[in-house]
Amino acid sequence: MVTRKNDIPPFQENAIYAHIVGWGMSVPEQVLTNHDLAAIVETSDEWIQARTGIKERRIAGENESTATLGLKAAQKALEVAELLPIELDLIIVATSTPENIFPSTASLIQDWLGAVRAGAFDLSAACSGFVYAVNMAAQSIRSGSIQSALVIGSETMSRVMDWQDRGTCILFGDGAGAVVLRASDVEGGVLSSVLRSDGSGWDLLGIPTVGSMDVHIPEASPNGHKMHKMHMNGGEVFKFATRVITESVTQALDLAGLEMSDVALIVPHQANARILHSAARSLKVEADIFMSNVDRYGNTSAASIPIALCEAIQQGRIQQDDNIVFVGFGGGLTWASMVVKWGTPEYAARRALYQQRREFSYFLARWRRRALQWSRRITETVSRIRPERGRMRRLRRKIDQSNLR
Ligand code: COA
Repeated sequence: MVTRKNDIPPFQENAIYAHIVGWGMSVPEQVLTNHDLAAIVETSDEWIQARTGIKERRIAGENESTATLGLKAAQKALEVAELLPIELDLIIVATSTPENIFPSTASLIQDWLGAVRAGAFDLSAACSGFVYAVNMAAQSIRSGSIQSALVIGSETMSRVMDWQDRGTCILFGDGAGAVVLRASDVEGGVLSSVLRSDGSGWDLLGIPTVGSMDVHIPEASPNGHKMHKMHMNGGEVFKFATRVITESVTQALDLAGLEMSDVALIVPHQANARILHSAARSLKVEADIFMSNVDRYGNTSAASIPIALCEAIQQGRIQQDDNIVFVGFGGGLTWASMVVKWGTPEYAARRALYQQRREFSYFLARWRRRALQWSRRITETVSRIRPERGRMRRLRRKIDQSNLR
């Protein structure tokens, strides 16, 4: 992670607030309806809608992945923020479905964007990941160590679904959302956050994969779950979710010195409409204070909050100076809430031709990648040939010496 840079002047010397200044989303075109699902597992549109509120979800195509969806969302967010990739200090991708265990999906996106001055890493906190990641980015900005950050929540849940398990495969979908955070001395932005975990619920929701516990690649995890497929104890997760939404939203508001009546909108993790109704009852608020688009996308894990945020902005549900709350919950168990005072401060120098410069950065990134990969290949080939020659020379000398004797 780059701290303050000498060659690019900081945007504002006394910046202490971290504002969300850009946002973008990207979902696959392919739609999977409840009726389509009824042809795969024993279920029905009525059951799914009644128990979850979901009507359809998006499924990634063959050429789509967590990184490609994340990249598109990121490009849109940079466009709204009027920021160049080179101005980014940090990229965090919150995901449970990364391209690989390592290298990180964030590094891939960093390269594709041409964000050559940014640090990049993936963050694993399941469906709470986006709120965790925004908190990490905001704290780095508020400490003065960085000026701007890109936070992406991106998932291809369809790739880790057990399509024979009707208790999980009806719930999840694919997609990505991203925000750009930037330092400003205008009061507002991220006001408070509460991050929590309860690892005693480790076994309630997860995707077993090859980890340091495995000495060989097993067929099933130690507790009998299918490898690389999601498993969940739906009932327990439901109870946990309703409890922690109420608890952590209240705690985050307390920390920000606000009350429920000061909140214009809650943008929650989109898991299940019934969870939100139940949380609304327990918070003693109308259910429509919760932004909900779970009917069209299902549960997109770490991507669900930024996708819902983008749609709330599109629908005009968030205005300047509104207090909004993000709340996420999921595997770990983890949960997190955050209060944000909305408002995109004006930055002094809006530079001309930003869109063209961004496009050029993506174009340049492609050629930079090719050039670097080629130069690595050439260096590797040359270094392989050289020691071979050296060895041959030594061998010949030995043979010559033994002939002399
Ligand atoms: N279609 C039809 N019937 C189904 C079904 C499906 N997709 N899934 C389960 N059922 C059946 C069960 O087999 C059970 O039948 P039985 O009574 O004959 O045994 C019945 O419906 C009730 O099952 P249950 O698991 O108690 O249903 P539920 O009301 O708890 O709903 C969930 C199941 C998964 C929708 C619900 O528990 C839930 O949403 N949990 C939270 C999940 C979540 O949000 N996870 C992500 C958090 S990040």
